[in-house]
Amino acid sequence: MLRVAVLASGRGSNLGALLDASRAEDSGYAIVGVFSDQLEAGALDIARAAGIPALALTRKKAQDRSQYDAEFFRHVCQVQPDLIVCAGYMRIISAEALAHLSMPTINIHPSLLPKYPGLHTHARALEAGDTEHGSSVHVVTAELDAGPLLAQARIAVRSGDTPDDLAARVLTQEHRLLPACVHAIATGRLRLSTMPPQFDGQPLAAPLSLHQNTLQPQVNP
Ligand code: GRF
Repeated sequence: MLRVAVLASGRGSNLGALLDASRAEDSGYAIVGVFSDQLEAGALDIARAAGIPALALTRKKAQDRSQYDAEFFRHVCQVQPDLIVCAGYMRIISAEALAHLSMPTINIHPSLLPKYPGLHTHARALEAGDTEHGSSVHVVTAELDAGPLLAQARIAVRSGDTPDDLAARVLTQEHRLLPACVHAIATGRLRLSTMPPQFDGQPLAAPLSLHQNTLQPQVNP
């Protein structure tokens, strides 16, 4: 069983989707801890209701980012995760903290990276007149939303769409994409120990795409 720690700052719907999928007999993973920088995060309630250890740690005034991260990840590492999943974790993780981690960390981001790293991705896609939008899962590196891409799910932008419309349709896709990625890592299909990562023994030339609930290599990357 792959031991997964989830980091989340908000409502936790992606955590909920991961948790539901983890209950499938062949999921290959278990969520062993949920950690937040926000005392009020809904993700903590979801974890506690499922009997999963959940901890919120807020940054003290005297702490800089790396001091906070050192304390935060000391707690995360106590649950001995094989994989850390950022699911709506809104803090930038310091380079020092990442360098000290011996397990990979992945993140889900609501845009087709490399487009629109950072915030307000749905409004930015609309402003740019994009006809397609979506979500990406990538390996976390010290550069914000810029680590190696693993997989993406796409939606069509419709005329009259608002940022909230896009957010809702992207979120529905995220609830399939993130569990599919963690399942692929847990079952060894997706390997993060090499760079570039490998899928079914082949180096990833382009992010995988989501079809139904499974990941596939892109036909024409
Ligand atoms: C998701 O859209 C994710 O891509 C972004 O933050 C949102 C988290 O939503 N990083 P939730 O807390 O999982 O509902």
